[in-house]
Amino acid sequence: MTRPEPVWTNAIAKAELVRKGGKTVVKPNGKQILLWLSEDTIYACNNRCPHEGYPLSEGTLADACVLTCNWHNWKFDLDSGETLVGGDKLRLYPVTIVDGLIVLDLADPPAQEVRDAAIAGLRQAFDEHDYERMARELARYQQTGADPVDVLPFAFEWAADGFEFGMTHAQAGAPDWLALRDRIAATEPEARLIPLIEIIGHLSWDRMMQNGPFPFRTKQASVFDPAALEAAIEDEAQDEATAQIDIALETVGADALRPALERAALRHYQNFGHTPIYLEKTYELIGILGVAAARALLYPLVRTLCTGAREDLIPEFRGYAPALEKWDPTATDLPQPDDLRGKGVNACFDMVTRAGGNADGLFDVLMHAGCDAMLHFDPQYREHVDKPVQQNVDWLDFTHTMTHLNASRRICARQPDLWANSFLQTACFLGRNTNFVDWGQDVSQWTVDNPDTFLDEVFDGLLDHGQPLYIYSVHVLKLATAIREELERNPHATWKPVAFAALNRLVHEPAKQKHMLRVTKQAFKFVEAQS
Ligand code: FES
Repeated sequence: MTRPEPVWTNAIAKAELVRKGGKTVVKPNGKQILLWLSEDTIYACNNRCPHEGYPLSEGTLADACVLTCNWHNWKFDLDSGETLVGGDKLRLYPVTIVDGLIVLDLADPPAQEVRDAAIAGLRQAFDEHDYERMARELARYQQTGADPVDVLPFAFEWAADGFEFGMTHAQAGAPDWLALRDRIAATEPEARLIPLIEIIGHLSWDRMMQNGPFPFRTKQASVFDPAALEAAIEDEAQDEATAQIDIALETVGADALRPALERAALRHYQNFGHTPIYLEKTYELIGILGVAAARALLYPLVRTLCTGAREDLIPEFRGYAPALEKWDPTATDLPQPDDLRGKGVNACFDMVTRAGGNADGLFDVLMHAGCDAMLHFDPQYREHVDKPVQQNVDWLDFTHTMTHLNASRRICARQPDLWANSFLQTACFLGRNTNFVDWGQDVSQWTVDNPDTFLDEVFDGLLDHGQPLYIYSVHVLKLATAIREELERNPHATWKPVAFAALNRLVHEPAKQKHMLRVTKQAFKFVEAQS
């Protein structure tokens, strides 16, 4: 890296520094630089601590060159420039003496050096989930004139092997955050950084919550075989599936993998409907970040497909496979959304099956029914402490009906024979969730009075959402994004008012994000039942 020409700048006379007790702050070119004379060496560093900016001139020097910032006890080696305790690097300035005058080199380091340092700092902050430092390092990166979106592939690389069961909503929410970022004017650089910090912060948090890494021990495949990929996923053979990803990326590219992954994602009612959502969002992300990021994004996705629980095997959803078998693509007996109210899983299978030949009409009915159920969620299930674990249901269980529909609609546009899987899986959501709604409650307060501006207000609110747990804010984001996308396709959709009301309630009703008493009571009952 070529070093810039030095910018030697006069500070003060060495004698004056001595007269001031060996420590002073000078302000050349608008900078604030601390000079400290120690054992005949003059050190010069930024006077603003790189942690929170308090003045290092109030710090303590020990062992000749170890400067402690007394606000939070970070320690800096003024010889090497290393941060010994704490995080961010302190900027030092080269010093020379010319005719008794202290002269400082104020030349900025090369931009690439600053970027590399910011990425190294971001990695440390990522490993520690230091949200504030992530923001500082991204701001440093952006200050060099670079696009901070360029750091995202690094973050996905750092995260990829951190998840035992594959990807999380951190990856699935990323393209929605980036779409939100695109809507923010370039004149608001702080706001435009928020989506990136949220993506990286969420990845960091989810990774830290697991005791990884869980390496991808790949076998090798000599040829890409889509059928072999599907079979490996069905057999939960992660090594085989990952080997297929590798050979496909080397030979035919990520797009060639997609049809097989789509079929695998919609084969089962799996992972509580996450798989088609995760697949669609992963490919959206590859489209944004480029093929270089594909491996780090596809590995966790394929692990999810292999390890996801297949709920269509549990008694509640066991009717899924027989319903799939008797699917009639010519049936057109379309139900009304209200017909689905209060219906269990098997009744929902029947209704959906009778309308299999009218995909567009059925899609709208199911969107309406899903939003209607969410709008009528019975809050006692959010608050309860005495019910069994099977009744631990919250908003997030309801949002997936619509985000799953949105993702699977996109998939089925390419592979229409998968509509049966998509709609029957929606029936699983609807039939199950109907147990947790109160159709008699008054929901009129959630009607949206300003539909023209409502979605913009929801997205604006997400830029300072204040939710401590990423999982809640990302679900608001994902649902709002899915609704917006479907309305862009069909601006006069009949389900629009009920979708807005449901989203309005989600945004404004307080979420209970931690259940201490419920968890403890259920633990006691569980242990008692096992003894
Ligand atoms: S401001 Fe210096 S350690 Fe926090």
